Amino acid sequence: MSLSSSLKSLLTVCVLAAFVSSTVVESYKCAQCELEECNNDNKKTCDPSHGCFSEKKELNTTGQRPQSILRKGCSSSKCDPKAFSATLGDKHTFGYGYQCCQAEECNKADFQVARKSSAPNGITCPACYNDQGFTCQPTDLACKGEEKKCLEFVGTVKGAQPVFGMGCATETACNLRNMEVTNDVRIHTYCVGSGSGSPQLTSIISSILTALFLLKVLL
Ligand SMILES: *[C@@H]1O[C@H](CO)[C@@H](O)[C@H](O)[C@H]1NC(C)=O
Repeated sequence: MSLSSSLKSLLTVCVLAAFVSSTVVESYKCAQCELEECNNDNKKTCDPSHGCFSEKKELNTTGQRPQSILRKGCSSSKCDPKAFSATLGDKHTFGYGYQCCQAEECNKADFQVARKSSAPNGITCPACYNDQGFTCQPTDLACKGEEKKCLEFVGTVKGAQPVFGMGCATETACNLRNMEVTNDVRIHTYCVGSGSGSPQLTSIISSILTALFLLKVLL
């Protein structure tokens, strides 16, 4: 009698547990938008196994309106968070953030990409920026906050001159490959004087420079 009643309660527990665990995996909505749309309240129900993401790219140029590119939605497969910032020359800063979360509209709120400290960190990097070709005249830039690496980048632009620059950056900005920073600009980066920088880009740039130089000489 007591055995069958304990079996009964065990069965009850099992059924309850199965019921509870089946309702725990609940689907939720993520904010879904691009650019200006992100002021509206668009959302989408995502596959329960996927989370929400929000991505922000911010380009500031002294004397111009800050440019911010936002994207939000359901993350496709495994969500891979990322954040970096860079100061290029004395007039250009770029910040990037990709955040992941798993709860109802958890990607709705705005977030800061560059938690920029204004405290110099003792590192000095050559810095310059040129959106008309592969060279620029660097001047010394005192790095601030978490931007402790000296970075160089080259950007290819659809239907326009390449962009080239150097400056201070977070370590997470080193070694980006073909990363889309604004609609038409894709960049490659490497960091110098750190051992983590790859020498490949230097040779790519110098061979491009050599080719350009030869063209100039020959034509
Ligand atoms: C761009 O400027 C805005 C407004 O001044 C500031 O809040 C933001 O942190 C800046 N972003 C970067 C990447 O420097």
